Amino acid sequence: MTTIKLNYYYIISYKHAAVSLQQAYKKFLMQTLSLAFHNRILIITINRPDKLNALNATVIEELSATMDDVCNNPEIRSAIITGSGDKAFVAGADISEFNTLDATGGRALAEKGQLLVFNKIEQSPKPVIAAVNGFALGGGCELAMACHFRLAGSNAKFGQPEVNLGLIPGYGGTQRLAHLVGKGRALELILTGNMIDAATALQYGLVNHVVSPEELLTKALSILELINAKAPLAVAGAIKAVNAAFDTQLNGYDTEIAAFGALFDTEDAKEGAADFLEKRRAVFKGR
Ligand code: COA
Repeated sequence: MTTIKLNYYYIISYKHAAVSLQQAYKKFLMQTLSLAFHNRILIITINRPDKLNALNATVIEELSATMDDVCNNPEIRSAIITGSGDKAFVAGADISEFNTLDATGGRALAEKGQLLVFNKIEQSPKPVIAAVNGFALGGGCELAMACHFRLAGSNAKFGQPEVNLGLIPGYGGTQRLAHLVGKGRALELILTGNMIDAATALQYGLVNHVVSPEELLTKALSILELINAKAPLAVAGAIKAVNAAFDTQLNGYDTEIAAFGALFDTEDAKEGAADFLEKRRAVFKGR
């Protein structure tokens, strides 16, 4: 695996440059993220270990730009979000940036984060999964929950401790936690500010798998390699239809019918059926 770092300005300009993504990643640095590219999977590591990877304004901007790249760059098929070091995934929004905020600033912080990062991850047509390698608190738990699903190291801890600061979750936590673990458990976690361990998170359905910290990235990569072998437009359609189940503005059944129907016009669906009937293994092209 090649570890690569880049500057998000470059990611944007890269799209117009005649260089490969691999070359681009070798050349540039980001301030708060490090990126690695392996088998068309972008591994996004939040890289502020001395601050337990807390989400400051720069992390939000760089995650936003990186998610644009995940969504739009055809070389990237899926992504993993994780944290640097062995202690934290993300210990929350950066509390040191809260001092100067009033009601307008607080609202803007939540709106900007939700729009630029959390909604973008959830609505990404390519799978984005969280590999939770330690504390996932506040905005960290919200970041993991915005991902399509979550894997945890056995050392992971989850919580929404904002109430301890006189606040509530602002990056979608009140909604996504209730969707994932149910209203009663969500309210208990949010109102007490208590943390739960990885085994409890598994029992609650907050994470899909718990593995040893050493196995976490390997397990995440192996699941995405399996998904990457499927038809990309079918993967995107499935994400869109499942997301619609949680969107009160949409009828999820109608979204499913539309996505299901549209896939019949794709080359991959024709290939998939033909390959099955001819007992060959389908190779999908994303068309
Ligand atoms: N924002 C800003 N800085 C943070 C942070 C956050 N959310 N979480 C941790 N840090 C910083 C600490 O200030 C400390 O920095 P310093 O060494 O410059 O003083 C460093 O990360 C290490 O944290 P520390 O508290 O010393 O580690 P710990 O092992 O004693 O405790 C936690 C770990 C996660 C329990 C504790 O850091 C914590 O409660 N963090 C805040 C969690 C939170 O409330 N998140 C929601 C925010 S809305």
